[in-house]
Amino acid sequence: MKLWGGRFTKETDKVANDFQASIHFDQRMYKEDITGSMAHAAMLGRQGIITKEDADTIIAGLAEVLAEIEEGKLEFTSDNEDIHMNVETFLTAKIGATGKRLHTARSRNDQVALDMRLYVKKEICAIQDGILDALDALMEQAKAHPRAVMPAYTHLQRAQPVTFGHYMLAWSEMLRRDFTRLSDCYERMDELPLGAGACASTTYPLDRRSVADELGFARITGNSLDAVSDRDYCIELLSALSILMMHLSRMCEELIMWCSWEFRFVEMDESYSTGSSIMPQKKNPDMAELIRGKTGRVYGDLMGLLTVMKSLPLAYNKDMQEDKEGVYDAIDTVKICLEVFAPMVATMTVREENLRAAAGHGFINATDAADYLVRQGLPFRDAYTAVGKLVAYCSQNGKLLEELPLSTLREISPAFGEDVYEALSLDTCVNDRRVEGGPAEASVMAQIARLEKFIEDARA
Ligand code: ARG
Repeated sequence: MKLWGGRFTKETDKVANDFQASIHFDQRMYKEDITGSMAHAAMLGRQGIITKEDADTIIAGLAEVLAEIEEGKLEFTSDNEDIHMNVETFLTAKIGATGKRLHTARSRNDQVALDMRLYVKKEICAIQDGILDALDALMEQAKAHPRAVMPAYTHLQRAQPVTFGHYMLAWSEMLRRDFTRLSDCYERMDELPLGAGACASTTYPLDRRSVADELGFARITGNSLDAVSDRDYCIELLSALSILMMHLSRMCEELIMWCSWEFRFVEMDESYSTGSSIMPQKKNPDMAELIRGKTGRVYGDLMGLLTVMKSLPLAYNKDMQEDKEGVYDAIDTVKICLEVFAPMVATMTVREENLRAAAGHGFINATDAADYLVRQGLPFRDAYTAVGKLVAYCSQNGKLLEELPLSTLREISPAFGEDVYEALSLDTCVNDRRVEGGPAEASVMAQIARLEKFIEDARA
């Protein structure tokens, strides 16, 4: 008979039973379920709601159940529907009637809310560790190439000179925000829902705060109806993970372009590349493409849960069981993506000579030529127009700005002097951009120091 079978005289239909069971996926929360039950039983004992001896027997029994699950000795069954009833059934089989006292003053509604929060909190930390590894990889590449000049693009057109180090640090800013977004999410969800019962709390004299302390929650939830029906923290997590995947996808997109023969800015290590079954010459950036592709499923997980929740009346509804697979999938996906991304970035070879060659074309020093004229006293708009004319002339004649003789430059603006060639050199163009957050070497070094400290503090 079902644990809830008291008022029923018929068995659940076989298909209906399998349809509504969640054990095949929620079994991954066995540890959270047992930890939560242990804290609950201990509190029931402290409060005299059950005897101390019964509480101890239950806790010892749960410890054995936990060990046996981990040894693979116990078999979950959909007859017991979900992880909560499977564990309770294991417990009662082990310690007898005392096990039936565990569920006093509790509902599966606050129990599942607790398990999910414990699970999500743990996984947020694991994902943050993965982000730190990715940040490490980006920082090492930045450190290795602080002077490697390359073009920055706007509209995917060569725009202005930066360095590869500066580029890697731009990516690291995205991941740094993802890290702190997850911290915000963690902070907000750090509340114990247990004690909310099915929806209206309970008549027993619970001590929720001691359970919160024991389970490592900062606070307790403030309203029983909300506590069992709130899945905001799952949606916030999925939002943060969607943004993180969007970032990984953007980086991967650039890496894929950079691996192409058209760019040849980087080369992936063979351990993170694949070949083609037909074209012998191919070396494909499949890992980066897959990360880009998997972004779609994480967005899907977010959309799925938003849609599940959009019309649910208070409080618990079984629809909410649909929160789990999407959340699990997003967590698994993000973790494996980060696990591949970090070493893929760490092991790639950067072709500094190709970066510099690309920077040498496309007039990315045109702004610097205008700035040179401004330093000679011209208003920026006039300087801009003069250099625009020079660019047009160069384009027609297949020349670069720095290849024009001084006489030609002076025809457009007499303000040009011999020192313009120095001003147009790529290294000057980069290193004159000393503004905080800019690409000059000193600024890149400062960014690296800031990132290093962030990683260090986060790991402390
Ligand atoms: N397996 C359920 C879920 O994941 C647990 C809560 C079930 N509660 C209920 N009253 N049916 O949401």
